[in-house]
Amino acid sequence: MANLAVNFAGLELKNPFIAASSELTDEFDKIKWAEDAGASAVSTKLAFLNVPFFARPYHVFEKGGGFYSPSGHRLSVEESQELIRKTKEQTDLKVIANMMGPGENLDGWVKLAQMLEEAGADMVELNMSCPNVGIMAKQIDMDITDELGAHLGKNPALAREVTRKIVDGVNIPVMPKMTPEGQCDIVAKGCEEGGAAAVSGINCPMSLPGCDIYDDGKPLYPSTNNQSFAGICGPWIRPLAFRHVAQMRMKCPDLPIAGGGGLSNWQQSIQMIMYGATVLTYCTLFYTDGFKALHKLEKGVREYMDKMGYEKISDFQNIALKYIVTPQQVDYFDAFPEIDQEKCKGCRTCYELGHCEVMSFDEEKKKAYVTQKDKCYMCGVCYWLCKHKAITMVPG
Ligand SMILES: Cc1cc2nc3c(=O)[nH]c(=O)nc-3n(C[C@H](O)[C@H](O)[C@H](O)COP(=O)(O)O)c2cc1C
Repeated sequence: MANLAVNFAGLELKNPFIAASSELTDEFDKIKWAEDAGASAVSTKLAFLNVPFFARPYHVFEKGGGFYSPSGHRLSVEESQELIRKTKEQTDLKVIANMMGPGENLDGWVKLAQMLEEAGADMVELNMSCPNVGIMAKQIDMDITDELGAHLGKNPALAREVTRKIVDGVNIPVMPKMTPEGQCDIVAKGCEEGGAAAVSGINCPMSLPGCDIYDDGKPLYPSTNNQSFAGICGPWIRPLAFRHVAQMRMKCPDLPIAGGGGLSNWQQSIQMIMYGATVLTYCTLFYTDGFKALHKLEKGVREYMDKMGYEKISDFQNIALKYIVTPQQVDYFDAFPEIDQEKCKGCRTCYELGHCEVMSFDEEKKKAYVTQKDKCYMCGVCYWLCKHKAITMVPG
């Protein structure tokens, strides 16, 4: 029988499922929903000693793809303390307190961490990764120093020193959160040297949603007259998250990692663990599907583990890493497309590919055929694009 419990940097979690810091975790009622649906921990909404600027959350969705979030509701340290206290009193959740120190003042980082610890936080998550407060604020010429948000998370030496200072100042584990705007593995290594008990990532890369082509290129947001650059999360960032988590695991073999970014189902969650994550974080999925998505995650992972004979999460953690090599080391074998004529519906997708001369098309029978196998360079594009699953890649 599968056991989903995980020890994460000293925190005993009943399962690896964590609600990521966001407006999912800025109020007690929502945190309670997360617990009722089965989360083991929450990362509370970003807290500051002094909230730097007002930002009402506004979003653009591209369904199944991207979720653009240029800003968000930030908590004052007092609000965060109150939220942590209530969560510790009224739930069994582990509380990870997401926080960002004042850019110019390392002692301020420590003070904030200590105040969150005092309120009962089980771990502090150092937000070195918010694109909105860091890079973007800098780009719009706000008077902000380099030690803030994703600016800090691009600088391994600075990240190490901030981590070290906070590790020395608190008695709970410290977890810096990584930005894909930087090289996460190198920054994570710096943080590990500074004493980090774990790292999390990835936070959102910076992006821009499209604009209204029939209205002067105005923003698509229904509730703003202009727009800033926006952090993007959701399915589009998943491959980026897999890459960064795998690279962090390779560089820091013993460092616990909270892996997230674009995870939408239990299969992707298992892949994330296979690439090195110790536990998993979700944000966009809970926005779109509600916390009830946790039921499917739990059921899916549990049934999968029973089917595969895995007793605990660590049985399959990291197992995909052995297949990651440099491009010149990739071990190829020949495999060519074959089309199942029963399944081919004559849609022409494989025949009309821009790069490929392998297929021909019978206009009478409305079927595609492999006729120039010698022109095939085995890329697999036809296989992936066939909507009817009529194409298989057959070794030969
Ligand atoms: C509306 C919104 C607010 C967020 N606020 C925070 C935050 O306060 N602190 C933080 O570290 N990350 C924050 N994030 C980033 C998420 O915690 C998460 O790292 C990111 O969305 C990627 O995960 P996902 O693809 O599952 O959404 C926020 C994301 C969104 C969409």
